[in-house]
Amino acid sequence: MSIDGIAVPAGEARVSVFDRGFLYGDSVYEVIRTYDLAPFRTAPHLARLASSADRIALRLPWTVDRFEQEVRSVVEASRGCEVPDAGAAPWNVGERSVRIVVTRGSGELGLDPGLAVEPSVVLIAVPLRGPPLAAYREGVAAWVFGGPGAPRRGGDPAAKTGEHLFHVLATREARAHGAEEALLLDGGGHVTEGASSNVFAVRGGVLETPPLGAGILAGVTRAVVLDIALRLGVAVLERPMPLAALESADEVFLTSTVREVLPVVRAGERPIGSATPGEVTRLIHAAFREAAGGGHIPGKVAGRG
Ligand code: PDD
Repeated sequence: MSIDGIAVPAGEARVSVFDRGFLYGDSVYEVIRTYDLAPFRTAPHLARLASSADRIALRLPWTVDRFEQEVRSVVEASRGCEVPDAGAAPWNVGERSVRIVVTRGSGELGLDPGLAVEPSVVLIAVPLRGPPLAAYREGVAAWVFGGPGAPRRGGDPAAKTGEHLFHVLATREARAHGAEEALLLDGGGHVTEGASSNVFAVRGGVLETPPLGAGILAGVTRAVVLDIALRLGVAVLERPMPLAALESADEVFLTSTVREVLPVVRAGERPIGSATPGEVTRLIHAAFREAAGGGHIPGKVAGRG
């Protein structure tokens, strides 16, 4: 861990109660993961951090180079913190996720951002806790949250900010129904994204996903998957996704930094397709594994039993 560039043991890391990230969610963040302990796709994550900061008029205190270097340092400092996990997907064993949080800093109480003195940067490197291998083999359930009459999300969906309550409540409801992820509905009844993931459907071999204009985060993994689809010759339609379109798809999967490409076999009470992970999902995940450095191709893992 580090606070403002100073390494601190996790148990001793503290921020001020006057920090605006704590008081108001007045912060931006990123989550980067490692492969072989090397941070993956750092550049697009840091570009998105800059864009998120821009969108809330927060001045990032460090250059991209400094962020890169500090991410590598906290990963290095976290060596030896592994906790064995027999159910982990093999590509996650020994890896880290690194959370970068930049808050507007501390100051006198009050909403006015002008009260903040100086932004604060916290970096947290922890053992990566991705979905277990069984989730990739069997698929997971998703829970549909939001829509007409339900609470509306606040803030700017294109900015990754500390304003999390809508996503927290969506995740709470999903977990209460035994689901791995909440799928967020907008006021018009369209599925936009997951609480911490982007969503894809496959219909007749065509990949469908909501466009960036649908009120979603521009996922780094989403972009990798769109590149993969292009390379594999899988047609892609970026268009709004009514809930019925998701429910009647042949396959559905989620993408995110810690999940990679995760099959969804149930949405609410409804099975998706044959309620087992689909072939296009498997192909794309296998290609993603190659893009992430090879090792542990899901199909091969499954073959070894
Ligand atoms: N969340 N949409 C939302 C709302 C997210 O919070 C995330 C990621 C994504 C996927 O983005 P990416 O592929 O760049 O991880 C989409 C991070 C991982 C988190 O909150 O932990």
